[in-house]
Amino acid sequence: MKMIVKLQPRVFLIIIQTFLVTVTAQINLVLNGTAAQETTYIDGAGIAYNANLAIEGPANNNWGDGCSSTADNQSKTWWGFFLPKLVYISRVNIYLRNDVPARMNDFRLYLANGSIYSQSELCYRDRLKQSYYNLNQSIDCDNSPTKNVYFFNRNGMNTFIELCYIEIYELILTFLSKNRF
Ligand SMILES: *[C@@H]1O[C@H](CO)[C@@H](O)[C@H](O)[C@H]1NC(C)=O
Ligand SMILES: *[C@@H]1O[C@H](CO)[C@@H](O)[C@H](O)[C@H]1NC(C)=O
Ligand SMILES: *[C@@H]1O[C@H](CO)[C@@H](O)[C@H](O)[C@H]1NC(C)=O
Ligand SMILES: *[C@@H]1O[C@H](CO)[C@@H](O)[C@H](O)[C@H]1NC(C)=O
Repeated sequence: MKMIVKLQPRVFLIIIQTFLVTVTAQINLVLNGTAAQETTYIDGAGIAYNANLAIEGPANNNWGDGCSSTADNQSKTWWGFFLPKLVYISRVNIYLRNDVPARMNDFRLYLANGSIYSQSELCYRDRLKQSYYNLNQSIDCDNSPTKNVYFFNRNGMNTFIELCYIEIYELILTFLSKNRF
C-alpha cells in the first residue's frame, strides 16, 4: 500500500487588530426642514407670528426680534418641524421669550413619524416651571430615528407654543476602522 503524503501549504497566520474610531458630530438641521403650527397669533396691527420665525432666528429671547406664536384661546396647541428623511435627533435647544416665559411651562417635546397624535414618542416634558426659570434650554433626546419634531402644550384654557429660536441637532456617528498588522 502506497502512502501518499500531501504537503500542506504553509499557513500564514496573520493577526489583524482592528480599531474602531468613533467620530461624533452634531449638526443643526433647522434649515433642512419646514415648520408649521396648529394656529398662528395675529396681533392688533395684523402682524402674524408664523411658525417659521422659530427657525429663522436670531437666537435670543426678544419677542421684538421675531418669535413664533400660536393663537390666543387654545386649550391645546402644537408647533412642528418636518424633515424630508429619518434622522437621529440627539439634542434640541430652545430660546424662549423673556416677557411671558411661563406660558411654555409644562410643554412636551415629541419626536414623531406621523402626526403628534400618532407615531410619536415623548423625548421630554417640562415640569417644575423650567420654562419660567430657564429661557434657554438644551434638551437631549435618546429616541429612535424620526422625521418630525413637535412642541405641544395643553392646559384646558389658554395655552401657547412660543419659540424665539430653536436648534435641532442630528447626531452623526462615523466609524473609521483602522487595521494594524
Ligand atoms: C441638510 O442640508 C445639508 C445642506 O443642504 C445637507 O448636506 C444634509 O445632507 C442635509 N441633512 C439632512 C438630514 O437632510
Ligand atoms: C440665551 O442665549 C442667547 C444667545 O446666546 C443669549 O443672547 C441670551 O442672553 C441667553 N438668555 C439667557 C437668559 O441666558
Ligand atoms: C378668548 O376667549 C374669551 C372668552 O371666550 C373672549 O372674550 C375673547 O374675545 C377671546 N379672544 C380671542 C382673541 O379670540
Ligand atoms: C420612525 O420610523 C423609524 C423607521 O421605521 C422607526 O425606527 C422609529 O421607531 C419610528 N419612530 C416613531 C416615533 O414612531
